[in-house]
Amino acid sequence: MKKILITGCNGQLGRALNFLLKGKNIEIINTDVDSLDICNESQVLELVKKEMPDTIINCAAHTSVDKCETDQENAYQINAVGPENLAKAAKEINAQIVQVSTDYVFDGNTDKPYTEADSPCPQSVYGSTKLAGEKAVAACTDKHYIVRTAWLYGDGNNFVKTMLRLAKERDTITVVNDQFGSPTSALELGRMLLHIVDAREYGIYHATCEGVTNWYEFAKTIFSLAHTEVNLVPVTTEEYTAAVAKRPAFSVLENHRLNSQGTYRMKNWQDALVEYMEKLS
Ligand SMILES: NC(=O)c1ccc[n+]([C@@H]2O[C@H](COP(=O)([O-])OP(=O)(O)OC[C@H]3O[C@@H](n4cnc5c(N)ncnc54)[C@H](OP(=O)(O)O)[C@@H]3O)[C@@H](O)[C@H]2O)c1
Repeated sequence: MKKILITGCNGQLGRALNFLLKGKNIEIINTDVDSLDICNESQVLELVKKEMPDTIINCAAHTSVDKCETDQENAYQINAVGPENLAKAAKEINAQIVQVSTDYVFDGNTDKPYTEADSPCPQSVYGSTKLAGEKAVAACTDKHYIVRTAWLYGDGNNFVKTMLRLAKERDTITVVNDQFGSPTSALELGRMLLHIVDAREYGIYHATCEGVTNWYEFAKTIFSLAHTEVNLVPVTTEEYTAAVAKRPAFSVLENHRLNSQGTYRMKNWQDALVEYMEKLS
């Protein structure tokens, strides 16, 4: 890889990639929504043809799961039409493209981790628009990687920072304990992406930090690492009424393809969290 186009460069993953690429002999074209609105087909094509990257990593998305429920058209434009525009442009110049997707393409009605071979069945607008994005990219070009990740945290708004903020504002924090998944650091996902784009084995990948937890246990680990005392109360999804969108109960992804290839193994989620929190402090 010599020249890479990163969309949504100010998001968590976009920032992580920039951190990882610093000092490397790779030309980076960073774009945010002001310099490149991925929903604008002609703007996308024009910029891609002008810059001629060999790799496009789409880090842009509408990631607010609850807001997507009421902002459906916008969610579709950003999560499905935008990736399609980028994939068409990639095909035009023979570049490869990475489309990042989500565990929320699955319904979570299982107790077995999902592999890349399992059939998606999204339960929310966010999940269904992200799945539409996956399909659109795959239909436009064979030179694609669809990389599904989950519970992402990095330089931006995320669960870890929300917990640390709430601990300063409240005595008691309630967190759901019946939704299972794998917290994944944006840095670790970034490392994985930079690894696979060089190997050029296209298709779907699951890429989450190794291990499984629930949001309550995740919060407990965050407070333990931050040496923060807080009254943390577990609740069920049914008791927690603040969420608008339906979330999968068990959206654990197995990094089956990655682990079968055997050339990159994601850190386990606790080690990645320690690395992240050391940087925060
Ligand atoms: N966050 C998670 O927990 C999670 C979980 C699973 C999968 N993922 C996937 O992982 C990827 C990276 O997520 P992230 O957490 O890094 O996202 P993020 O921090 O929310 O960043 C998304 C970026 O996209 C930009 N953007 C929005 N609309 C755009 C448009 N029309 N054109 C160009 N840029 C646009 C946003 O800019 P503004 O902020 O200015 O709007 C933002 O900088 C996404 O594909 C997401 O679906 C995330």
